[in-house]
Amino acid sequence: MPEPVTSVTFPPAFLWGAATSAYQIEGAVREGGRTPSIWDTFSRTPGRTAGGDTGDIAVDHYHRYREDVALMAELGLNAYRFSVSWPRVQPTGRGPAVQVGLDFYRRLVDELLEHGIRPAITLYHWDLPQELEDAGGWPERDTALRFAEYARIVGEALGDRVEQWITLNEPWCSAFLGYGSGVHAPGRTEPEASLRAAHHLNLAHGLGTSALRSVMPARNTVAVSLNSAVVRAVSSDPADLAAAARIDDLANGVFHGPMLHGTYPQTLLAATSSVTDWSYVRDGDLRAVNQPLDALGLNYYTPTLVSAAGADTTAPRADGHGASAHSPWPGAADVAFHQTPGERTEMGWTVDPTGLHELLMRYTRQAPGLPLYVTENGAAYDDKPDPDGHVHDPDRIAYLHGHLSAVRRALTDGADVRGYYLWSLLDNFEWAYGYGKRFGAVYVDYATQERTPKSSARWYAEAARSGALPPVTGR
Ligand code: FCB
Repeated sequence: MPEPVTSVTFPPAFLWGAATSAYQIEGAVREGGRTPSIWDTFSRTPGRTAGGDTGDIAVDHYHRYREDVALMAELGLNAYRFSVSWPRVQPTGRGPAVQVGLDFYRRLVDELLEHGIRPAITLYHWDLPQELEDAGGWPERDTALRFAEYARIVGEALGDRVEQWITLNEPWCSAFLGYGSGVHAPGRTEPEASLRAAHHLNLAHGLGTSALRSVMPARNTVAVSLNSAVVRAVSSDPADLAAAARIDDLANGVFHGPMLHGTYPQTLLAATSSVTDWSYVRDGDLRAVNQPLDALGLNYYTPTLVSAAGADTTAPRADGHGASAHSPWPGAADVAFHQTPGERTEMGWTVDPTGLHELLMRYTRQAPGLPLYVTENGAAYDDKPDPDGHVHDPDRIAYLHGHLSAVRRALTDGADVRGYYLWSLLDNFEWAYGYGKRFGAVYVDYATQERTPKSSARWYAEAARSGALPPVTGR
């Protein structure tokens, strides 16, 4: 029997969104009193980003936000997740806010609301004010206290008009790529500091959540966006399963342990005991981190395949956002990483929508009753305009179809998924990869800043309009 049509449609209240982050799109890094963030410093350091690319101009969203909101409206999106640049609203990371900075976000939010698009604010998407890094950065406890103050400032300014709040984006990347492998700002390669950073990011999330709640209307929701890894072992050999469990602790348990359950996994503490003694976890910290959440944001791109070391490790590592001689996994030197078989995107990330279904079901079991959002999902491809100026990206359409189908299956299987934010609205500055990797549903000509919706943007618009997935064509 053919499936009834209703089984492939999404709930009417489902959010069809797109996501971006401040440093990746805004540009205008010297305007309105903004000071450098760690990403300004890092990207201007020779050798840190592909081609020496920086976010100085990015896609000039700071000046073109009206055009960008109009584009979202044209595509029928009903939600938009963006981040606030900390050094734009509180330049030194301390003290009073800069009104010009807050005003920019107020105007952006008002523009979104006028177009019927629900804003979701991420407070921290990796752009720490440089002054706070100079004082020690995330490995220092004070950075968490500073974050809570910043959260209060933004919550006070925008809590009356923005209902959805996300404290941190992917704290794993901040801690382990920023302070472990060093492929992200600030580019430090200190295993102990990466675990300290993880704890202080957890604390920042908890204190920030409390600060937001103390200044915002009760109807507003607070969440966090985790890039929870879908860790799979190459075999069911006990050594491979142990390697997968180790990486699961370092990728997932280190954050969702304290955030959702108020504790670090014992297995994580044991496995990292040669790297750190965790003495910076003070009495009361875990209670502060373990704030009740209104929702959980999950960012998913590709699964992580591991084995015990000693197996074939010739395959490229698929454990982060760039190659480094330093591992982002403290205490896991005996784990080897493998490429998951299958089709790959331009990032070299294997396309595997089953991982998204697995992730959503995992948190449905682990945090029953907590609404879930896919706060990022998408793919980079080598998109180019054809002679008529059209950008055809059938591979991205297939990627989106596969992953949204996985979301739909998770809904059927009982997951409370409320929305999906495509990464990304526009092509943008892809961190250490610079402008070389295009994740946008909308193509950007970086020389002219002209925006052209790719065919995937039209496909996604139709999905958003109809609440169902159109077929994949053009492959
Ligand atoms: C995520 C980041 C986002 C973007 C995508 C491709 O890890 O949150 O900024 O770089 O990957």
